[in-house]
Amino acid sequence: MSLINKVVLVTGASSGIGAAIGLKFAEAGANVAIVGRKEDKLKKVSENIAKVGNKPLVIAADVTKDNDAQRIVNDTVKQFGKLHVLVNNAGIASNVDITSENAMKVYDNIMATNLRSVVYLTHLASKHLIETKGNIVNISSVFGQVPTNKDFAYCASKAGLNHFSRAIALDFAPKGVRVNTISPGPVKTDIIENLGFSSEKAAAIFNIWKQATPLKRISDPVEIAELALFLASDKAVGITGSTYLADNGFSLGGR
Ligand SMILES: NC(=O)c1ccc[n+]([C@@H]2O[C@H](COP(=O)([O-])OP(=O)(O)OC[C@H]3O[C@@H](n4cnc5c(N)ncnc54)[C@H](OP(=O)(O)O)[C@@H]3O)[C@@H](O)[C@H]2O)c1
Repeated sequence: MSLINKVVLVTGASSGIGAAIGLKFAEAGANVAIVGRKEDKLKKVSENIAKVGNKPLVIAADVTKDNDAQRIVNDTVKQFGKLHVLVNNAGIASNVDITSENAMKVYDNIMATNLRSVVYLTHLASKHLIETKGNIVNISSVFGQVPTNKDFAYCASKAGLNHFSRAIALDFAPKGVRVNTISPGPVKTDIIENLGFSSEKAAAIFNIWKQATPLKRISDPVEIAELALFLASDKAVGITGSTYLADNGFSLGGR
């Protein structure tokens, strides 16, 4: 699949799934802009991308800050002249339940990162995507469809993201812009360590998730990147408003 001469903006590309998407799209010939807050991690991803494709544009930014969101879209278009694909991937999980004292603080932070930032970045990118008849790939979660405990804010943010994606797919369709969503199950990334857990605890949690999937496996980030590449490419020209589960069967239950 070729994305030669296409311009792709990937948020949350300093790590995990976003880093794999940046790499995969660059391999396919795209010019990629990668976004995250941690400059050291972005630098490493940038070096890896430059080995397989065009040197990426690195944007150190916090997607929850409106000024940063404006800079993300403006700098990408200034550097590459166009925008064909927006991948809204930046996201955080939590570890609190609804009775926790800090429930609302966590909820506000999760919604700001996982949903509000996506809405604002999409709004800012819309005129550029309409110009190129481009598309959007949103990275949601299986927990947007089936709930889990101690993560109500995350579940709500991803369910909201799924329905937001379907609603804007309708707004964009007459303008030739497609919008699709990927809902991964467990994927081996830094997401648990980024919650403050040790690597040993993260490994234990991933093992529990692995046992909870019918396929008894954890995905590699590249599996999600492959699906994102397909959805962003012309092969998916007739696909919009879809939610693709890539969850090793987790949502089937059967535990
Ligand atoms: N791993 C899984 O099992 C799994 C399952 C289902 C869905 N997902 C979803 O997949 C997406 C990627 O997660 P991941 O597993 O790859 O986790 P990860 O390794 O923790 O990566 C998360 C990325 O989001 C970025 N990010 C977080 N908050 C940000 C902010 N305010 N501004 C800018 N960037 C921000 C992080 O960059 P900085 O830290 O540099 O800011 C990092 O690049 C998320 O939306 C997540 O919900 C993951």
